Amino acid sequence: MLKDDFKNLLKQVQADIKSNMTKDDWLALEKKYLGRKGELNKLMDSLKTLAVEEKREVGKLANAVKLELENFFHKQKSIFNPVDENKTFDLTLPGEKYNIGHLHPITQIQEELEEIFASMGFIVEDGPEVESEYYNFDALNIPAHHPARDMQDTFFTAEGNVLRTHTSSVQVRAMEKYGTPLRCIVPGKVFRNEATDASHDHTFYQLEGLMIDKNISITNLIAVMKELLRGIFKQEVTVRLRPGFFPFVEPGFELDIKCLICRGNGCSVCKQSGWLELLPCGLIHPNVLRAGGIDPAEWSGFAFGLGLTRLVMMRYGIEDIRLLFGNDLRFLKQF
Ligand code: PHE
Repeated sequence: MLKDDFKNLLKQVQADIKSNMTKDDWLALEKKYLGRKGELNKLMDSLKTLAVEEKREVGKLANAVKLELENFFHKQKSIFNPVDENKTFDLTLPGEKYNIGHLHPITQIQEELEEIFASMGFIVEDGPEVESEYYNFDALNIPAHHPARDMQDTFFTAEGNVLRTHTSSVQVRAMEKYGTPLRCIVPGKVFRNEATDASHDHTFYQLEGLMIDKNISITNLIAVMKELLRGIFKQEVTVRLRPGFFPFVEPGFELDIKCLICRGNGCSVCKQSGWLELLPCGLIHPNVLRAGGIDPAEWSGFAFGLGLTRLVMMRYGIEDIRLLFGNDLRFLKQF
């Protein structure tokens, strides 16, 4: 009778137990009875042949036997895996360290700058990276065929747009959007058709700044620049202005800072000159104000273009720009 066969299964298992069984022996024994093609399943298969009434009764017994066998083997196995069974949790052990990342050093410095400028009433503005020739050049007093276009080697798209060569492309956009008075910065990615070497890359980061109001002069420009440098370098910084040419400012300057490493005495970082070239700037050209719908007789302003990538390199003494864009964790983890 099938019913007896099920009952006998328990006795058979008992009879199969030998002394000094290893863990593998137990696993083999379990497989013999509970495996997919094991003794229990063989009997289960025969259940099908029974009449409905009988099937219900024997089925109940079959399940009870199955449960008993499972418990039995589970207990035996736990003797070999005591740790699993009695797993304890030691609250005092040091935790496992999560592998979380952090912001890229360029993003870190960008956020610092945003905070410094926000404290001076500047808004943070954004603009498209694929830009029209108009906003990147024409609106900035750089007409087509003018030699000044040669200053920036540009990527053009098939549709005749450009990958913006500087964040200055957002100057006139911001003027159109907000009008006067205006204080804004524009951090972002810019592109130039450059061969890559230690100090050049086709993609880098700038931070544009723009302030337009009544009676804005070079004095205001210098004051804001000094505040910016104090915020970033956490010390008083000496600056000097040299003339510099950019079609969208008049007058235009290169702003240098006294070398922070040697304090102006000359070292390898400043190439013995005592000064570091930091950012180009100037008073916004009347043509640019006009392009932005602003009357230059009534308003004036300054603009500057800070190289974020260069600033990070200067701050940490990074000698090769490729390190910053290499996605090498051994490098990035240091910041
Ligand atoms: N856009 C210029 C550049 O990328 C920098 C600049 C910005 C100069 C604002 C003057 C005023 O070279």
